[in-house]
Amino acid sequence: MALSDALRAEFEELCTHYPERRAGLIPALHRCQDENGGWLTPEILEDLADFFGLAPVDVYGVASFYPMFRLRPVGEHVISVCHNISCALRGAEALLEHICERTGARPGLDGTSPDGRFTVLRVECQGACANAPMVEVHGEYHEDLDPAKVDRLLAELQSGAPARGAR
Ligand code: FES
Repeated sequence: MALSDALRAEFEELCTHYPERRAGLIPALHRCQDENGGWLTPEILEDLADFFGLAPVDVYGVASFYPMFRLRPVGEHVISVCHNISCALRGAEALLEHICERTGARPGLDGTSPDGRFTVLRVECQGACANAPMVEVHGEYHEDLDPAKVDRLLAELQSGAPARGAR
């Protein structure tokens, strides 16, 4: 069983906020992913399907549709690099290469750094185009980036300090 009693109780309460029980699935997926080191196992998806009264394929369909859910293990820090037009025009590709060079990661879920600390992903527009180029880490946006700012961000992540907000 992947869902603890505590999580089940939390999700029962969560469901009271929605007109339909299954509407709690996405926040539950987020919560489970956070609890499980950044990814969702098949067992978690099956338990969630059972909990929400859904077919496992439906839960898998939701989890695999949205890029913020990961179905394979990730590093301690997931750096999502926007590569859409505004960011691309302002150097996103060079920034991505710089991040990969500094972390030892390759872009994609199979490219986690050898030390297991960093996963670097290419992602679609994050809605911060006016402050391109940008990356998202642990739910925080880091905008108007250049290599020096990225180096400071990586140093904070390496040190365990909270790397928060755009700078
Ligand atoms: S194009 Fe990168 S945030 Fe919109």
